Amino acid sequence: MIRVAVAGAAGRMGQAVVAAVEGAEDMQLTGRADPALDTTLADVLGDAEVVVDFTQPDTALANALECVAAGVHVVIGTTGFDVEPLHATTGANVFIAPNFAISAVLMMRFAAEASKHMAKAEIIELHHDAKLDAPSGTAARTAQLMEGDVPIHSVRLPGLVAHQEVIFGDVGQSLTIRQDSYARESFMPGVLLAVRRVGELDESPLVGLEHLLF
Ligand SMILES: NC(=O)c1ccc[n+]([C@@H]2O[C@H](COP(=O)([O-])OP(=O)(O)OC[C@H]3O[C@@H](n4cnc5c(N)ncnc54)[C@H](O)[C@@H]3O)[C@@H](O)[C@H]2O)c1
Repeated sequence: MIRVAVAGAAGRMGQAVVAAVEGAEDMQLTGRADPALDTTLADVLGDAEVVVDFTQPDTALANALECVAAGVHVVIGTTGFDVEPLHATTGANVFIAPNFAISAVLMMRFAAEASKHMAKAEIIELHHDAKLDAPSGTAARTAQLMEGDVPIHSVRLPGLVAHQEVIFGDVGQSLTIRQDSYARESFMPGVLLAVRRVGELDESPLVGLEHLLF
């Protein structure tokens, strides 16, 4: 059994992760950290082998450093923070994915391939209006994987979950690649895969679910 604690456990993603971990036969939920639950990360670190962090851009880095310092592996889904300081860490592994949905990983891969052949591209990312960061981590990562300069447009509206279009243009033609996450359950198979694999990574921090899938 992998002992898993969730940071941000009271949040939209955190609640879905708690349910997914509780439903996984090879995992045991050992802690739920969240200021909204009056429980700190330090309170849950002692019992955990892996922490899953879906918190906020201004807390994810400190949380990850605290986990690694305690020898606890960490899987990070939080977006919009600088991962650079994590390169100096040793003692436990860090896995980060800006998007844990398989359809989003495929969208990024196809967009990277198309960018080698089409003249120009722009990204439109669309999310629910409570999302704190813009552009999204997924859009930033997609642009990073593509060739050329790729402008990103951010839309924040109620009713949306997580969506992205990559639109390519060339002489007399265009191509649109679109990905939609309609529910937070779409991210859970990727999160559980990362929990199972984070302890055996060859490098840390490792960024991108594609490294565990392909
Ligand atoms: N990687 C992915 O696939 C993916 C998918 C969806 C969302 N996200 C990202 O996940 C993050 C969370 O999104 P959300 O919609 O669940 O947000 P949310 O606001 O619903 O939840 C965040 C939770 O974190 C808690 N929190 C704040 N500081 C904390 C700390 N120091 N320790 C523990 N908990 C703390 C808050 O109280 C809150 O309950 C965002 O950065 C979002 O962009 C990533």
